[in-house]
Amino acid sequence: MAGKLMHALVFDGYAGGVVGLKHVEVPVPSPRKDEVLIKLEATSLNPVDWGVYKLRVLLRPFLARNSPLIPSSDVAGEVVKVGYGVKSFKPGDKVVAILNFLTGGGLSEYAVAKEIMTVSRPLEVSAAEGSGLPIAGLTAHMALTKLAGLKLDKTGPQKNILVTAASGGVGQYAVQLAKLGNSHVTATCGARNVDLVKSLGADEVLDYKTSDGASLKSPSGRKYDAVVHCATSIAWPVFEANLSENGIVVDLTPGAGAMWTYAVKKITCSKKKLVPLILIPNGDHSLKYLVELVKDGKIKTVIDSKHCLSRGEEGWSKSIDRHATGKIIVEP
Ligand SMILES: NC(=O)c1ccc[n+]([C@@H]2O[C@H](COP(=O)([O-])OP(=O)(O)OC[C@H]3O[C@@H](n4cnc5c(N)ncnc54)[C@H](OP(=O)(O)O)[C@@H]3O)[C@@H](O)[C@H]2O)c1
Repeated sequence: MAGKLMHALVFDGYAGGVVGLKHVEVPVPSPRKDEVLIKLEATSLNPVDWGVYKLRVLLRPFLARNSPLIPSSDVAGEVVKVGYGVKSFKPGDKVVAILNFLTGGGLSEYAVAKEIMTVSRPLEVSAAEGSGLPIAGLTAHMALTKLAGLKLDKTGPQKNILVTAASGGVGQYAVQLAKLGNSHVTATCGARNVDLVKSLGADEVLDYKTSDGASLKSPSGRKYDAVVHCATSIAWPVFEANLSENGIVVDLTPGAGAMWTYAVKKITCSKKKLVPLILIPNGDHSLKYLVELVKDGKIKTVIDSKHCLSRGEEGWSKSIDRHATGKIIVEP
């Protein structure tokens, strides 16, 4: 691969949005110790990819590997080369991987991933489905299992779960994973996605643009033991009125108000809590577990749209619009 060029989309200068992207030819990266080089078959987009562009551009002088910056971190493809010390993979292996979201690398034909952040992809799991899993699937999994305390093998007590923005990349996985546990799921989404979200397993669905949806009130009168909050701009009193005695809001989109609520609830040892969640992937077994769930048909990746890399900015623009139903995929 030495000297070979690849097609990639990079951030150009300091512009945001689609105008900040540019098609270029750059050298294929080389895997270092404990890294694998992947020929990409699919990349999925996440709001964090374009949301942190300013931070990434600021940090550019310190980001040795990816200069220019190639955005996106969730990838699937085939291993074509391994670095020194790699034991789990060999050329020809199909994989899913999560790249460092600051250094990215996904909107290209090849990317280098850490071995520890790479998992095998069985033939039953398409590249597009697999690439949807890393950030969105891991976030939903962490919110439900680590923070909401749900056991996905149904061994725990029954819980009432609310998932907001259940039609989005994270929400669709949160609904499906919650239903693997012993839970009753209420979900919010727009009217056009109500049937889809029901088909993912939600027991009751609220249209967020109606007054019932805005109040988050469960149609069956349930109080929520946990909320996986994937939407934005919902004030604490709205959640509080709908929580059970020890209910918890896991906030994926915490603003200043949410951080204040978090601090106050913690200091006052309140039974009802709000906890901000920031995913920091650590290479544990969760991604492998999610890939296995897809293989076994227990969860699926809802795909909003697929875009070829040569028109990747269309997917980027769609992601910025924030109206995707499921995952937006870019294919080299
Ligand atoms: N903290 C973390 O570590 C972490 C990790 C991953 C994601 N996130 C954040 O979590 C949020 C969700 O991510 P995502 O990838 O799921 O986003 P997404 O795919 O862009 O979400 C889009 C979906 O959300 C729906 N939606 C928007 N506002 C809504 C509302 N008020 N109520 C109900 N549905 C609403 C939209 O439906 P309509 O088209 O009908 O409006 C659309 O289907 C983002 O803000 C993201 O940055 C945080």
